[in-house]
Amino acid sequence: MKDTVFIESFEERVKNTIEKYRLIEAGERVAVACSGGKDSTAALYILDKLGYNPDAVIIDLEIGEYSGKNLENLRGFCAGKGIKLHAISIKDAVGHTIPFISAAMSREGFGPCHACGILKRWLLNKMAREMGFDKVATGHNLDDEAQNIFMNFVQGNLGFCAGLGPVSGHAEGGMFVERIKPLYFCPEEETRRYSQIIGFPVVYEPCPLSADTFRTFIKGELDNLEAAMPGAKRNMADNLVAMLPALRRQYKQSGKMRKCRKCGEPSRSEVCRACELLGRWG
Ligand code: FES
Ligand code: ZN
Repeated sequence: MKDTVFIESFEERVKNTIEKYRLIEAGERVAVACSGGKDSTAALYILDKLGYNPDAVIIDLEIGEYSGKNLENLRGFCAGKGIKLHAISIKDAVGHTIPFISAAMSREGFGPCHACGILKRWLLNKMAREMGFDKVATGHNLDDEAQNIFMNFVQGNLGFCAGLGPVSGHAEGGMFVERIKPLYFCPEEETRRYSQIIGFPVVYEPCPLSADTFRTFIKGELDNLEAAMPGAKRNMADNLVAMLPALRRQYKQSGKMRKCRKCGEPSRSEVCRACELLGRWG
């Protein structure tokens, strides 16, 4: 496919996803959760191009040069497009950098992505709500979603699939800001091609700390499956979307959402997972 045709069809797919799943309603304020990578930058660029007037939010994980470069790239990109950027340092927010947290977690037998994921979600929700955003858009693509579905299936966590889909984090008492995935039906390879054609200033290497070996294994298996059965990943996402209403009915969490005793963020237990984590280091 010629580059110009490819760009058009990629953007059209994102537009259709937003409209079909009503990811953004008229007048809503959207923040794009940016990492400085190709996916979130593409989501930011397309939402801006489609006229949704997004702000960008980045959590500086303080992973040495890697984070520095991502922040610098995103600053330049947002300045060039006139997009408002909100940057917050994880150290200012929780008192520690991700390398510190990840080293502490690995001593307890957890991979670095475990704590990083929990803290990013927690901080993002808090920031987005405090700043009055209606939606937080992420750069999750089709490969991410297919991996999540596959991982939940093979680990016997079907209930976790109820939290997937193009829109997640449905509000309970307005404490969660809904998360939306405009690139839901865009395969990783296509997002990479889109990013390279447009020439986004992004770092293509993965986070140097990422060591989610199970996800890497599942990714390899899915890539093999896709090579043997083109369309397999898309079928998984389509089937998940079709099953979502039933999954959400079936796995609707019992027990009311309450406020974490320590931070006031939504939590199903007395202390939320982020505070439970942070409590380990005083
Ligand atoms: Fe979270 Fe690398 S982005 S550990
Ligand atoms: Zn808390």
